[in-house]
Amino acid sequence: MKTSTILLVCASVALPASALSIPVQAQQVIQQAHDTIFGESERYLIELAPGETRWVTENEKWALRREGKNFFDITNTQDLGSVYKVESSVTFPEHVQQNKSIQPLLQQLKTAPMHKNLEKFTSFHTRYYKSEYGVQSSKWLLGRVNETLSEAGALDHKASVRHFSHPWGQNSVIATLPGKSNDTVIIAAHQDSINLFFPSLLAAPGADDDGSGTVTILEALRVLLMDESVVTGTQANTVEFHWYSAEEGGLLGSSEVFKQYAKEGRQVKAMLQQDMTGYVQKTLDSGKPESVGVITDFVDVGLTSFIKKVITAYCDIPYVETKCGYACSDHASASKAGYPSAFVIESSFEDSDKKIHTTEDKLEYLSFEHMLQHAKLTLGLAYELAFNKF
Ligand code: BES
Ligand code: ZN
Repeated sequence: MKTSTILLVCASVALPASALSIPVQAQQVIQQAHDTIFGESERYLIELAPGETRWVTENEKWALRREGKNFFDITNTQDLGSVYKVESSVTFPEHVQQNKSIQPLLQQLKTAPMHKNLEKFTSFHTRYYKSEYGVQSSKWLLGRVNETLSEAGALDHKASVRHFSHPWGQNSVIATLPGKSNDTVIIAAHQDSINLFFPSLLAAPGADDDGSGTVTILEALRVLLMDESVVTGTQANTVEFHWYSAEEGGLLGSSEVFKQYAKEGRQVKAMLQQDMTGYVQKTLDSGKPESVGVITDFVDVGLTSFIKKVITAYCDIPYVETKCGYACSDHASASKAGYPSAFVIESSFEDSDKKIHTTEDKLEYLSFEHMLQHAKLTLGLAYELAFNKF
C-alpha cells in the first residue's frame, strides 16, 4: 500500500474527515479502506436490553464489553424469542425427593479429575471461538466427554455426545442421556474464553471463565453415570450436558442451540448454567463465608427456588443471592426460547473473579474445593430432576 494511503487512513482515524474538508465520496473510500485494513467491514446486531438493538463493528463489541456492557449478538438469531419460542409452564418440587440415592453419589465427586481436566483445558493458548486453538479445545472437550460416557459404559446404552456445529469454527458440545420421556433437563457451561484486549492474539487461559464451570459439570456427569438407572437410560427424563461455544461473543453458541431446540419443539423443563465456579479469595478476604452465588435477575423464579433447596440439602456451604444483569451468560438464551433457566456463580457478583478475560485468569488462583461444592449442587439438581414427574 502507498504511504499516502496509510497517512490518509491514519488521518481519518485521528480527525473527523470534515475537519480536513475531504469530499463525502472520498470520506467513504477512506472509511472503507480503514474498515478493510482493520478487519472492521462486518457489522453485528447486538441487543443490550429487551428490544434495545444496535449495529456495531467487532471492535465496538469488544469496547462495549470492556465498559462492562452485556449483550446478545442477535445477527443470525433475530427470530429467537419471537418466531422461535415455546410456551411452557413448569412447576418444581416443594422439597428434594432423592436424598437416599444422591448422598452416596456425592461421596464419589473428586477434585483430582477436575484439576487434571482444567490443566489440559487451560493449556490451549486461548479458547477464543474464532481461533484455531478454540477449534482444537472444542475437539479435545468432545473427546473427553466421549471417554467419560465410554468409561461409564453409557455408550452401550442410549447415551451419546456430539458437536453442534456453528459457522465460526468452534462447535458446542452436547451430551444426551435419554430417559423414559423426552422432557429434558439441561446442565450447562461455556467452553470458550476470551482476552478482551486482543482476542485473536493474546492468551486467554479462561481458568475460571469458564474452564471451572466446564470441568465442574464434567465431574458431575462422570458421577451421575455411576447410578445404575442413569447409565442404562431408565431414569424418568432425558438429561443433557451442554458446553457452549462463543458465549463471549454475545451468547452466540447457546442462541443457535436454543433456536434449534425451540424450532424442533424440544421440551426443556429446566436449564442450569454455571459460569465461574472456582474463585473464592475475595469473599474470604472480606471476611464473608464461602457461599454459592444464586442469581435472582432474569431467571426462572420456580427453578431458582428449587435450586436453593438443592444447595441446602446437598452442599456443605450456604448460598447468597446476587444479580448479574441482562444477557450475562447462556441461561439468557434458554429463557429467550421460553424455557425455565437459572444461573449459579462462585460468590456474590461483587466478590467474583476480576481477572477474567485477561492472561491472568489462571488455575492457580482457584479453589477446587469450591468447585466440588458446585459439582454437588449440579449432581443434586440433575438427579432430582432426572427422576421428577413433570
Ligand atoms: N462469566 C462472565 C459473566 C460473569 C461475570 C459471571 C462476573 C459472573 C461474574 C461471562 O463470560 C461474560 O463475560 N459475559 C459478558 C456478557 C456476554 C453476553 C458478552 C459480560 O458479563 O460482560
Ligand atoms: Zn463466562
